[in-house]
Amino acid sequence: MAVSYPEPHYARRAERMRASEIREYLKLIDRPGLISFAGGIPDPALFPAEAFAAAYARVLGDPATAKSALQYSISEGYLPLRQWIAERMTRDRGIPCTADNVMITAGSQQALDFIGKLMLSAGDTALVAAPTYLGALMAFNPYEPRYDALPMEASNRTPASYADASAAAAPGARVKLAYAVPDFANPTGETMPLEERRRLLALADELDCVVVEDTAYTERFSGDPQPSLASLDVADKGSVDASRVIHCGTFSKVLAPALRIGWVVAAAPIVRRLVLIKQAADLHSGTIDQVVMHQVAAETYDSQIAKVTASYRERRDAMLSALARHMPAGVHWSRPEGGMFVWASLPPGQDAGALVERAVAEQQVAYVPGRAFFTDGTGTECFRLSFTLPTPPQIEKGIGKLARVFAAA
Ligand SMILES: Cc1ncc(COP(=O)(O)O)c(C=O)c1O
Repeated sequence: MAVSYPEPHYARRAERMRASEIREYLKLIDRPGLISFAGGIPDPALFPAEAFAAAYARVLGDPATAKSALQYSISEGYLPLRQWIAERMTRDRGIPCTADNVMITAGSQQALDFIGKLMLSAGDTALVAAPTYLGALMAFNPYEPRYDALPMEASNRTPASYADASAAAAPGARVKLAYAVPDFANPTGETMPLEERRRLLALADELDCVVVEDTAYTERFSGDPQPSLASLDVADKGSVDASRVIHCGTFSKVLAPALRIGWVVAAAPIVRRLVLIKQAADLHSGTIDQVVMHQVAAETYDSQIAKVTASYRERRDAMLSALARHMPAGVHWSRPEGGMFVWASLPPGQDAGALVERAVAEQQVAYVPGRAFFTDGTGTECFRLSFTLPTPPQIEKGIGKLARVFAAA
């Protein structure tokens, strides 16, 4: 007999904590015979496992290094790793900065949580794209924000309309942050054009709010690179310490997600506050993992980028050509220039959520229905396909199977 648990009086913020629908689909990945386009995870065959093994052995094999690598360490993060990141941000991303502008986080996911904690009082407004990265909503939700949509291309929203809507929703509430994944977004795979980047920064200036730039996917397969939001703002304001952009990066997609190492680059006063939050949350990210990540990044980062980019480019191409050959009329999809995802839609009125169950049961193929990525329950006909895990022949086969499900709907 099922026992009903007498739940305690949780905090109000717990009401907005929900299990992600995506986790349900991720469970399907390991099902034998199933071709999954659901998970947004890197191909483990690309992890530099030997370099990690050698680095852990080196660090633990030297008694002096082992002692400090197994010890508590500072909340900002391992200094040589922060210096390495500061150099790369300066050189590759046009964000001149020093280690004082860098904090190490447990993946960029932790950075989103900490930024929510730092910026959002209950009722404050966070501007997010529709659809957006579900993990960002999960990170921000416990701080009880109100969401408003980032301006679309043809939007007639003015800064005043955002400020008024925010103040009307809760007394004293403000627009506190704008969250964007400008390159190869999750779930849409889209890249923000330069003009839209400039418009977003101008809007943030008018609203006097921070811009959270999530760069989980930086590697480009084709097309022209766009400047990061942080580089544009730093150029405009004269220095990272005068910038309103909080730039979040991660080693998850290029090296390996398991060590949970990401970073924040921001004005030093913002970083100092985030460090206090880090201290309270978990004191610091794993010392040995940071030491090892520093060694592996210094050794392999550039070759890993080349390897990961070549592999995912091939799979993206396989997916786009399979979609073009197999999909019935009325199905549309994006053509991403990087990242992990193709975003697609069924003809109006069709429900990607209902059809995924048939796809799994009848054709052993899975994807993520798009509704999960919207804050307002729309997106019924949308779905997300990840191309990073299946091989090109599996992609060809899986897209063919999916097309049969959609053609019969
Ligand atoms: C847009 C985006 N941001 C952040 C993350 C979190 O990555 P991590 O915490 O591993 O750095 C992900 C993971 O899929 C993502 O897609």
